[in-house]
Amino acid sequence: MTLRAALRAGTKVLTAAGVESPALNAEELVAYTVGRRRLEVLLRLDESLDAGQIDRLESLLERRARREPLQHVLGTTAFLEHEIRVTRAVLVPRPETECLAREALQLLNRMNVPHPAVLDFGTGSGCLAISIASGFRGSQVHALDLSLPALEVARGNADRNGVADRVQFHQGDGFAALHTATPPGHPRLQFDLIVSNPPYIPTAVIQSLDPEVRDFDPPAALDGGPDGLSFYRRLATEAGGWLKPDGWMAMEFGDDQAPGLTALFTVNNWRDQRMEKDLSGRDRILIVRSPGGS
Ligand SMILES: C[S@@+](CC[C@H](N)C(=O)[O-])C[C@H]1O[C@@H](n2cnc3c(N)ncnc32)[C@H](O)[C@@H]1O
Repeated sequence: MTLRAALRAGTKVLTAAGVESPALNAEELVAYTVGRRRLEVLLRLDESLDAGQIDRLESLLERRARREPLQHVLGTTAFLEHEIRVTRAVLVPRPETECLAREALQLLNRMNVPHPAVLDFGTGSGCLAISIASGFRGSQVHALDLSLPALEVARGNADRNGVADRVQFHQGDGFAALHTATPPGHPRLQFDLIVSNPPYIPTAVIQSLDPEVRDFDPPAALDGGPDGLSFYRRLATEAGGWLKPDGWMAMEFGDDQAPGLTALFTVNNWRDQRMEKDLSGRDRILIVRSPGGS
């Protein structure tokens, strides 16, 4: 079978299964099977797959046709310039979250603090913590998550991206995860910047999401409570105590959540609120300054 024929057959299988962008998915899976980049496959359409490769491709296509996310089938995804391993323990990092990582790096660059302390609240695969530790070399990054299996993946990702020595991981429910990091009698950690892409899907909406998300992303990474805002309420009321007086917080949020968040952070006296858009032009990131500053 030639690469051309494999691409045609793969696209047909994935189209029938209702996969979005079936041709692109088939190209990725064929490229993975033959150990080449997607563009290289497109330039070598007359090359042949051997019998072992055909078997492997069939099983990858079956998995994708059952709506397992492409990133799970391939085992990794790209986040900015980093390769991030993904398993069912972690949310697949989204392109929107790359915008949050860029905003965080810009905030750090403007702060003029040589060794800023940064917290990633709900780190999942570790994509944000890793891109910050790598993009701002002086930063001291802490990352917390409720899920131990997620933290194992995040630690592995920090290691494979060369920042394991500059990210400390903490397990626990929200900021309580940090209490064990602060021995009694020691001052509590204080951050220059907190970033978070918390769970923000309203509970009742989860069932209507694409199978790739509903059936494969961890429920605890999606569920933001009845109106999707539960974690922002915790951040609005608790995060100020973990920030330095003029510290910043940057959060990703979902469609239609901007008005509710503006009200929530205003009522809780956060300063200098602003929104940033994602690549499709939708309000996606909220940036606020600590209520406790000058
Ligand atoms: C939407 S995911 C974001 C993962 C990653 N930061 C990203 O942007 O791809 C939210 C993360 O918050 C974690 N989480 C959920 N409830 C939590 C809690 N009570 N305390 C700490 N982390 C929690 C989930 O396990 C999940 O990893």
